[in-house]
Amino acid sequence: MTIGPRPRYNRCVKIVAIGGGPASLYFAILTKKADPSHEIVVLERNRPDDTFGFGVVFSDATLDNFRDADPETHAAIARAFAHWDDIDIHYQGQVLTSTGHGFSGLSRQRLLDILQSRAAELGVVTRFSTEVDRATAWEDADLVVAADGVNSWVRQRYARHFRPQIDWRRNRFVWLGTTFVFPAFTFIFKEDEHGLWRVHAYGYERGHSTFILESTEDTWRRAGLDEAGEDDTVAFAQALFARELDGHPVLKNRSLWRSFPVIRNERWHHDNIVLVGDAAHTAHFSIGSGTKLAMEDAIALRRSLADHRDVGRALAAYEAERRPEVEALQRAAQTSLEWFEQTERYHGRLEPVQFAFSLLTRSLRVSHDNLKARDAKLVATVDRWFAEKASQQTGTSVAAAPPPPPMFTPFRLRSLVLANRVVVSPMCQYSAEDGTPGDWHLVHLGSRAVGGAGLVMTEMTDVSREGRISPGCTGMYKPEHVTAWKRIVDFVHGCSAARIGIQLAHAGRKGSTRRLWEGIDEPLAEGNWSLISASPIPYFPYSQVPRAMDRGDMDGVRDDFVRAVRMADQAGFDLVELHFAHGYLLASFLSPLTNRRDDEYGGSMVNRLRFPLEVFNAVRAAWPAAKPMSVRLSATDWKDGGLQLADAVEIARALRVHGCDIVDVSAGNTVPDQAPAYGRLFQTPFSDRIRHEAGIATMTVGAVASYADVNSILAAGRADLCVLARAHLYDPYWTRHAAREQGVDLPWPDQYVSVAGYSPRGGPSRGPQAERASEERPGSAGA
Ligand SMILES: Cc1cc2nc3c(=O)[nH]c(=O)nc-3n(C[C@H](O)[C@H](O)[C@H](O)COP(=O)(O)OP(=O)(O)OC[C@H]3O[C@@H](n4cnc5c(N)ncnc54)[C@H](O)[C@@H]3O)c2cc1C
Ligand SMILES: Cc1cc2nc3c(=O)[nH]c(=O)nc-3n(C[C@H](O)[C@H](O)[C@H](O)COP(=O)(O)O)c2cc1C
Repeated sequence: MTIGPRPRYNRCVKIVAIGGGPASLYFAILTKKADPSHEIVVLERNRPDDTFGFGVVFSDATLDNFRDADPETHAAIARAFAHWDDIDIHYQGQVLTSTGHGFSGLSRQRLLDILQSRAAELGVVTRFSTEVDRATAWEDADLVVAADGVNSWVRQRYARHFRPQIDWRRNRFVWLGTTFVFPAFTFIFKEDEHGLWRVHAYGYERGHSTFILESTEDTWRRAGLDEAGEDDTVAFAQALFARELDGHPVLKNRSLWRSFPVIRNERWHHDNIVLVGDAAHTAHFSIGSGTKLAMEDAIALRRSLADHRDVGRALAAYEAERRPEVEALQRAAQTSLEWFEQTERYHGRLEPVQFAFSLLTRSLRVSHDNLKARDAKLVATVDRWFAEKASQQTGTSVAAAPPPPPMFTPFRLRSLVLANRVVVSPMCQYSAEDGTPGDWHLVHLGSRAVGGAGLVMTEMTDVSREGRISPGCTGMYKPEHVTAWKRIVDFVHGCSAARIGIQLAHAGRKGSTRRLWEGIDEPLAEGNWSLISASPIPYFPYSQVPRAMDRGDMDGVRDDFVRAVRMADQAGFDLVELHFAHGYLLASFLSPLTNRRDDEYGGSMVNRLRFPLEVFNAVRAAWPAAKPMSVRLSATDWKDGGLQLADAVEIARALRVHGCDIVDVSAGNTVPDQAPAYGRLFQTPFSDRIRHEAGIATMTVGAVASYADVNSILAAGRADLCVLARAHLYDPYWTRHAAREQGVDLPWPDQYVSVAGYSPRGGPSRGPQAERASEERPGSAGA
């Protein structure tokens, strides 16, 4: 009999675990310990002392989980591990050290020995040298735990049910060892004539370190390693890193070059079979968490089985509880692995301190604040460096002792100097009368300016009546618009330290629709106006079909933009942003999904960019040279056949050459059937790439969630400004609150000066810096 659908038992007594790795053995230990009446058999193809690889790493937090789950295993691991706090970064001939990270390493063989003997002690039967395949018998298993690793046979056998996705990543790596004991977790970045090599290394026992060598596929091929045997690889690594290894040998153990497979499964359980560990999911070794995930799966599965007597329910509950946690970690691992795939982007371009900060915060899970808690000295160095750069860039003086957090440093765009790096994102209010902004807009934008942001952007403001999204959209096409906007601009300039920019747009095929709260992107029930776009493709199948623009339409739209920007200048705006994003008119030319033209405005990227660039050039010529221009881009359409990030880099490069000062990097909203990948900072990697590869300043937007996120993004060089939309709807004083929390004094308007001495927690306050000082010196807070 083979593994297959089995009846569900009310009580799980007979368990077969396939694979004798950490997931399987740890699950067997925890389950047998909780109920010795279970019969648990582990089947492993290898012999007990066969192991491949060298060491594994756990964070202090992971070890705490192990202590709670089984103190005996934890104690044995703790006796065997090497602990360290530091991370050393070898970069351009320097070694930068960051402390406070708390990791432990131990040999994989030692870990397996500990788990094997603990399992045996509890009465788990492990059958080594047993290959599980179609012919293996399972007569009585109530539960089959498929922990057969990254190449899982069970996953393959039941692929129809688990629906696995395997994403083979493009870098190459090899798992080596060395007798040199690295004093810290060590990253080495080293260039030779073939390219850039990355090393991830750590000591895991006396006289031994893990040494993982990684490079891009091109570098690997140029070095001839695609044809190398194990001994050639060892000789290559030993020669290249002779200095860092102090002449110690490099060791092999089935050290074959591989690509990393990111494994996901749509389902982790089928009938009485459950996938755990690498069989279910992998997380890149650069966050060192594969074994952690495997063992934490075991903890969660054991808990679910204890909570539910029915195996089917237990497995469903296990998956429901565990999946979000694993997916969050996989997202972090993905961002981390991409950093290592793209290290060439930063190497040699970033100064050492910023390179180190970028590396340490690469997964976006470690923020400026987390890092400060671990290594305050490093973060102070980063902040000082950042403040100095800001001071040079703006020609203003920025405090150096102590330096402000990066978000409170100034930033210059042409003659415009912003007091800080927080931007209120453009947000349609759908509350204008024939394009004229009113009291709502004054209060909406005015309160956010008083709230402390460095730059406040108007909502998408349309260059003609027919260019509006909805009847409630603001415009810049009638003389009274100048007066109405000037009232708002004057308020912002007169009553706050903020500057104000206007986002100019034409809605294209997404026009003539309802207000947000009446049905976003839904066509108006009545009073429609006719639409234009790059091609005659409706947004929804039932939306109005736009007319494909001819040259006359293009001239008209270009001139509308020019008229609007002249009016914006009269109204006193400090910056103008052109909307090339979210599927509106100019974006409809950029995306191959919405531009099917066969003239010189369709086809290649150069052609698709032709009309938007023509509008940009005309606006740039009409807008004062001292005032900056921004363009909001959708960096990807999140749809096959649509605009990709590489295209956005090309567009940004062209914009820079044509005098654009900054790109506001958004994404999507081109087509309704997009497949976006949302999550914290979901668009920041796009900004990072555009900033470095196109060589232009960027703003990042999209779920920038905290003050710490803003500081991290800026310090790592992922963007120059951070743009927040919904956070500002929730809290117009977001920046003021950020300032107070970080001990920065933002000047208050005269009308509000009394608040400077007010503490929301009650009692008098002498401002955040004074408050912090008094916390540090208990007893000094006087009357
Ligand atoms: C280069 C590299 C570095 C890594 N570094 C770290 C690190 O620092 N820290 C960390 O936590 N993780 C690290 N990992 C990941 C880690 O090795 C795995 O994530 C972890 O071992 C997963 O445990 P597992 O029990 O799911 O699978 P495995 O440890 O792979 O165990 C699966 C077992 O199943 C057996 N098996 C497979 N098929 C069959 C079959 N048909 N019949 C019988 N037996 C079978 C295999 O022999 C194996 O023993 C690294 C991985 C790589 C590739
Ligand atoms: C109510 C609302 C209106 C918006 N209007 C615009 C707009 O006019 N122009 C624009 O480019 N983006 C607009 N957006 C998108 C935001 O500017 C921003 O890119 C998006 O909300 C993601 O940022 P967040 O996660 O900080 O909210 C709008 C978003 C919201 C919530």
